[in-house]
Amino acid sequence: MSVHIGAERGEIAETVLLPGDPRRARFVAEEYLEGAVLFNEVRGMLGYTGSWRGSRVSVMGTGMGMPSHSIYVHELIHEFGAKRLIRIGSCGAMQPELQLHDLILAMSACFDSSLNTLRFQGMGFAPTAEYGLLSAAHAAAAERGIAARVGSILSSDEFYNEDPEAYRLWAKYGVLAVEMETAALYTLAARAGVQALTILTVSDSLVRGEALSSAERERGFSRMAELALSLA
Ligand code: HPA
Repeated sequence: MSVHIGAERGEIAETVLLPGDPRRARFVAEEYLEGAVLFNEVRGMLGYTGSWRGSRVSVMGTGMGMPSHSIYVHELIHEFGAKRLIRIGSCGAMQPELQLHDLILAMSACFDSSLNTLRFQGMGFAPTAEYGLLSAAHAAAAERGIAARVGSILSSDEFYNEDPEAYRLWAKYGVLAVEMETAALYTLAARAGVQALTILTVSDSLVRGEALSSAERERGFSRMAELALSLA
């Protein structure tokens, strides 16, 4: 048992899929995992372990933002022995050629958060995906006929930015999209020597002011979940 995850050691697989929304964790468990067993409901942050094509896999929500995400990732790694963490989430596109539903594999994650600024005493650590997972995901996407974009993203502490044009600074440097968790995931995974990757679906465009409806988000989510499961 850890503070925020009410499971016993051994109840969680070495590969863990991490959607932000706990109901999406339940959806993955119900839709894809054989013999899924609920291992956590503390704070409603549902987590399940089951098997997918013979591999043991867990899936658990992490909430929104780097502080919440960090708590669960820390406990999954240090209390439960997670070795391969795959975030599946949504993002807002910053580049004009990115369309709603496009898939992004986050090679690196910039951030506007003070978490790493404090951790590295003002110096600039570069949170980076584990290359083996990244290249496996790229190959698996290509096999499915999905042209996934690979590049840098921004992990932001703010969803409702007062300045709607603030993203342009990042966009000028080729950053593809904004979400709120990956810089923390990659940093904690690097420190612990475990594998991490973030797969994102473009759910809105900061460039064009478009957004997917919730029904459309569900469909895009399945494609991403299947890609993540294929890495287990
Ligand atoms: N900002 C931050 N996180 C997000 C966004 C966004 O615009 N869209 C989806 N996740």
